Amino acid sequence: MLQGKRILLIIGGGIAAYKVLELIRRLREEGASLRVVMTKAAKEFVTPLSVASLSGTKVFDDLFSLTDETEIGHIQLSRAADLVVVAPATGDLIAKMTHGLADDLASTLLLATDKKILLAPAMNIRMWLNPATARNVAQLRGDGVLFAGPEDGEMACGEYGPGRMSEPHAILAAIRVALESNTSIPLPGRLLSGRRVVVTSGPTREPIDPVRFLGNYSSGKQGHAIAAAAAQAGAEVVLVSGPVALPDPSGITVRHVATATEMLAAVEKGLPADIFIGAAAVSDWRVAQVAEQKLKKAERAPVLSLVENPDILAGVAAGGKARLVVGFAAETENVIEHARVKLAHKHCDVIVANDVSAGVMGDDENQVTIVTRENAETWPRMRKDQVATKLIAYLAARLGGIRG
Ligand code: C5P
Repeated sequence: MLQGKRILLIIGGGIAAYKVLELIRRLREEGASLRVVMTKAAKEFVTPLSVASLSGTKVFDDLFSLTDETEIGHIQLSRAADLVVVAPATGDLIAKMTHGLADDLASTLLLATDKKILLAPAMNIRMWLNPATARNVAQLRGDGVLFAGPEDGEMACGEYGPGRMSEPHAILAAIRVALESNTSIPLPGRLLSGRRVVVTSGPTREPIDPVRFLGNYSSGKQGHAIAAAAAQAGAEVVLVSGPVALPDPSGITVRHVATATEMLAAVEKGLPADIFIGAAAVSDWRVAQVAEQKLKKAERAPVLSLVENPDILAGVAAGGKARLVVGFAAETENVIEHARVKLAHKHCDVIVANDVSAGVMGDDENQVTIVTRENAETWPRMRKDQVATKLIAYLAARLGGIRG
């Protein structure tokens, strides 16, 4: 429940604005107290009247309206909230925020607030993937701004990909997390400056023939967030990524690979490093004989013979070219026990264990247990970028304790 929580909701101008009506209804059902601001463009998509009737409150839209300024100044409006939520957060609003522009009420409030800000981006896939937006988003994340989504999906313009605004229930979940946790605070100082970090992320694809492959559901969201958090903390980062639908985080060397063998080669090139983090879901097997031509449908289904792939994580731990070796254990049962076995088997320093039976793969949230030889520490469920920030702070502290 959000009883008594004060939320300043800023509605940006995008087709996804219609979904905000549902968000307003659910926020009120949960007892939140709302103040709503609409940009000029937002009013082209939903009417202030429908927003006012659903929210049960006056809609603010004019920076220079004298009555608003005498009743409640924009500074007060920006501060008298527990959380500022922007939905939909358009490419334009995100760009304005990044540069601290303040030419209307919404952008002025975003510049003036001293409260946490949660953005629910929504824009066309090309706009989201544009390096300018990627740079802006990375910058805002670094400043401690929180994000809910965007999600992959069919867009209003008919294209498919990342950029669709999260559904109201997902934004609501992110609002709860933002109000509960303290983990959104940007990483203190330059925790990893002068350090080198190599991260693997995403799935691998093991070819069967020229058109088919063995793969898995890994989205790369956790690994990419870790790489971004390490860069934010000042590290020089090499991200070795399997095929994912995510933009390359800015300020990072990204090596795109497909198979486990390619991933291993790229990791070896990236070493030595201070920290190696194996967050990729590397396929344990590959097809022994990849068919040169597309397999034809025959009377009998083909039998695939598999061979084991190299274990990249165990190899890095054995090679001694990383001072701190961190693995992931994605399990569907007895998560901590399996993580302990993995820690011992693969000789790594830390295993981040998570239960993937709960639909974590592809989700924006994760619940992890940090398993070391000494103990196991379970963290609350939070967004993957928050897990990343907390993990980087934890690893930086651990690295500080290692001499070298
Ligand atoms: O053995 P399992 O695949 O469950 O171990 C998961 C951990 O090992 C992850 O950190 C993953 O990145 C890493 N791994 C690897 N190379 C493999 C298999 C797993 O680096 N071939």
